[in-house]
Amino acid sequence: MDELLDRTAEAAPQDLTDGAELRGSSFDFLTGPGIDLAAKAQAFHAWAQTRVAHGVFPYAKRLGGRPGATAELTLLDGRCHAGLNFSSQEYLSLARHPKVCAAAQAAMERYGVHSAGSTALAGNVEEATALEAELGELLRMPEVLLFPTGWAAGFGAIKGLVRETDHVVIDQLAHNCLHEGARASTPNIHLHRHLDADHVERLLKRVRQRDPHNGILVVTEGCFSMDADSPDLKRLQALAREHGALLMVDVAHDLGCLGPGGGGQLELQRMLGQVDLVMGSFSKTFASNGGFVASHDRAIKEYLRFYAAPNTFSNALSPVQVAIVRACLAIVRSSEGGERRERLMRAIQALRGALTEQGLTVLGHPSPIVPVMLGPDALARVASREMAQAGLLANLVEYPAVSLNSARLRMQVMADHTPALAQTAAHIVADALQRARALAGATH
Ligand SMILES: Cc1ncc(COP(=O)(O)O)c(C=O)c1O
Repeated sequence: MDELLDRTAEAAPQDLTDGAELRGSSFDFLTGPGIDLAAKAQAFHAWAQTRVAHGVFPYAKRLGGRPGATAELTLLDGRCHAGLNFSSQEYLSLARHPKVCAAAQAAMERYGVHSAGSTALAGNVEEATALEAELGELLRMPEVLLFPTGWAAGFGAIKGLVRETDHVVIDQLAHNCLHEGARASTPNIHLHRHLDADHVERLLKRVRQRDPHNGILVVTEGCFSMDADSPDLKRLQALAREHGALLMVDVAHDLGCLGPGGGGQLELQRMLGQVDLVMGSFSKTFASNGGFVASHDRAIKEYLRFYAAPNTFSNALSPVQVAIVRACLAIVRSSEGGERRERLMRAIQALRGALTEQGLTVLGHPSPIVPVMLGPDALARVASREMAQAGLLANLVEYPAVSLNSARLRMQVMADHTPALAQTAAHIVADALQRARALAGATH
């Protein structure tokens, strides 16, 4: 750790001024008047550069080497921070597993390194068909369709299934791919309060009363990526059935890494095989790119192959990526997977406990995502800088990704984090927040 820290911070960032570096948000540059399409990009770039100069723009970092329990990240200003890594989505620490690397190499030798084409044409390889079947066994849903990314799966499933006259009832905090999919499909979007099944029930009743003729898709997540909490899936599925709707659950952050058998929230809530549609990503537990949509209906799978544009008009997952996911999935379903999930959960509990002992507010339930409330966006930017300088790498989430002045540190835990390392990380967070309060106070 000391050795890693020696490589941190070559030139100190500029002093804080309480100017643009601590004010505004990326939301300010989403639209803008005038005929010049580039104007808003230039305004955003100037604002981001000011933040970079003051060391408070912790985005677009470059990872050096593999994403282990410790790592090196280089900021946009060229300074390298090294230390404890809670910023990767490597939940079961499979990225350097010998069986996973060997599977990638074997696939490369067998298939080469190409992307095979769209699955609607000739982009299917044997490995992919096998992966679909194996994933279907874990989910207890026989019909699985792979997508090039998780984002494409979420967007594509909604855009493929929902017509302009249909309705989407969606959790207000659901992932961007789900909201974008809904927006691209229909103007009839009904946001429900986060996790509030009573609100879902009221919305479904109202929509059905007013429109008995069109479809309704209810959309939620197994484990929410900013709040680490979960809906009552049994109740949502029952409500969907009662009102002639379908339920789709995004399991990107829980499949493989939670539940005794790796079945995620669906398993924990005894809902494996009981939900209409499940979608997920391979970019977290499964050490690869890619995503999938699972259902019970072969017709839905084949319909999405030809009507979900990000699948139909994009090349399939490369054979190497497919082989990586298959190898990860085999580990997830083995006793080794169970042992890795136990290690992961011990680290999660240790981190949550240590943060709470430090007087910090930790959101949600035990999951690989541990969100720590930092509060005002300006304070959070400074705290994030102080943490990185002290050797803790974790992602800052600020408005508009979360509501204004409820910025948080999104710590992502992996099986290779030891409880002792989690304790050290919690101390760094608490110290950095204290220093940030002093520094942010000094600018007023
Ligand atoms: C909840 C959720 N769904 C979908 C995605 C998209 O997955 P991918 O990274 O595979 O595109 C993410 C990833 O950030 C996510 O957090």
